[in-house]
Amino acid sequence: MATTPLTFPPPLPSHRPSSLRRPVLTLASERPYPSSQELLPLRKIPGNYGLPLIGPLRDRHDYFYNQGRDEYFKSRVLKHRSTVYRTNLPPGPFIAPNPRVVALLDGKSFPVLFDVTKVEKKDLFTGTFMPSTELTGGYRVLSYLDPSEPNHGKLKKLMFFHLQSRRDHVIPEFRSAYSKMFDFLEDEIVSDGKAAFCPANEQAAFNFLARSLYGVNPEELKLGLEGPKLIRKWLLFQIAPLLILGLPKPLEDLAIHTFRLPAFLIKKDYNLLYDFFYYNSGPVLDFAEQLGISREEACHNLLFATCFNSFGGMRILFPNMMKWIGRVGLVVHTCLAREIRSVVRASGGDVTLAALEQMPLMKSVVYECLRIEPPVPLQYGKAKRDLLIESHDAAFQVKEGEMLVGYQPMATKDPRIFHRAEEFVAGRFVGEEGERMLRHVLWSNGPEDKSPNFGNKQCAGKDLVMLVARLLVVELFLRYDSFDIDVGSSPRGATITLTSLKKATF
Ligand code: HEM
Repeated sequence: MATTPLTFPPPLPSHRPSSLRRPVLTLASERPYPSSQELLPLRKIPGNYGLPLIGPLRDRHDYFYNQGRDEYFKSRVLKHRSTVYRTNLPPGPFIAPNPRVVALLDGKSFPVLFDVTKVEKKDLFTGTFMPSTELTGGYRVLSYLDPSEPNHGKLKKLMFFHLQSRRDHVIPEFRSAYSKMFDFLEDEIVSDGKAAFCPANEQAAFNFLARSLYGVNPEELKLGLEGPKLIRKWLLFQIAPLLILGLPKPLEDLAIHTFRLPAFLIKKDYNLLYDFFYYNSGPVLDFAEQLGISREEACHNLLFATCFNSFGGMRILFPNMMKWIGRVGLVVHTCLAREIRSVVRASGGDVTLAALEQMPLMKSVVYECLRIEPPVPLQYGKAKRDLLIESHDAAFQVKEGEMLVGYQPMATKDPRIFHRAEEFVAGRFVGEEGERMLRHVLWSNGPEDKSPNFGNKQCAGKDLVMLVARLLVVELFLRYDSFDIDVGSSPRGATITLTSLKKATF
């Protein structure tokens, strides 16, 4: 396949050494997606599950403590000489009765997980175990429903209705919540020399979601500033079996990987959140009744979509974006600032949807953040029937009922699809050739060039996520020429400390 050099972004000032220019911004060529018509050899799926109980426990320790998630998957690819193999997936005993999975670890086999004619997506949003429905008002909420279940289509319709009805509030409320956050972070840097991004982001994200989607300011209501804290605790009760909290290993393994945290402990907090959503969702709840969904079931679903899907997602994605954009350095920062400011000036100083579309480097940077570190890294599906799954090198027979697990970072950093797959290349998705590669960006549980609908399991908030991620970059570079960060780690991803925010000079 022909290789096309990317011409974007515009040439940099000539005094910069050329070694600074190319690597971060451009790609000499994109790797053609292998479209072999040849019949691949049929191979038995390598790997085994070990002895009952011992195998899953040994694998759990490797996954959490001895190797870590990345190494856990990568080392077994080398061992089995295959990107498709059998393994156990944590948590295993006693939380997940069956930890046995077939892992899909390349960009060719992974997309089978999006084909709901081939895989069932019932009760496996969090993997091989499902949190108690006591944590969601006794209901199986939308994320756990397979499209074949009648409620899936109705609830997804409700989500689309809600997002659509509030769409005009997104840009102004985002700008208001996040300028307040950046004002606060600037003050922190002046007084302490540094500022923690993550807690400020969580407060801003919750305020933004409440104001844009529900039209209320939680700070003026009973909830006050408590929203993020209540949600964090509630999230912990659901996903603790998948986390490392940093407690002494035997204690942690017993307390959160072996037994569930009892749901009743969080009931009071959950009810506070529920009341907040119930009293501020009137028109959406009315629409739910028209669809034949009770107000209660609809409200538990709105709470979940806002607090787990949206807040939970922004809490991971935004720090990750600050990390990758922070690390990419001054050259890209300058190009972003120039592009964003010139487009906003040309649109009369307004940030509009149309203006965002005219910022190719900014859009590419957002896609690249989502490619290099997908915020939800694991996807699951149960084979609906006997299937043949192809990696780049072989075809594998999977039996009906087998659990498939894709580790998305290995699919979106597949070196047989992307050149310099492990590198953050700011302009990767600029231009025709770059845009063609968007079908390999998979963060939303579907290709970036496809849309969520009633019949699939692609993220209902895909457009909203893209919009807020773009708005973050725009806000950042309207206000600042550049910024510096320190990066640490936490159970839910990167922790970012800002050490400088350099105010806009042009
Ligand atoms: C950074 C933010 C977000 C990320 C990374 C994200 C990611 C995902 C992923 C990976 C799935 C599929 C999970 C699976 O079935 O394996 C999903 C589903 C879903 N997401 Fe998002 N999401 C985000 C934000 C949102 C927002 C803002 C909404 C707002 C409504 C939302 C609503 C949903 C819903 C309702 C589903 C289930 C869809 C269905 O059952 O058909 N998400 N999301």
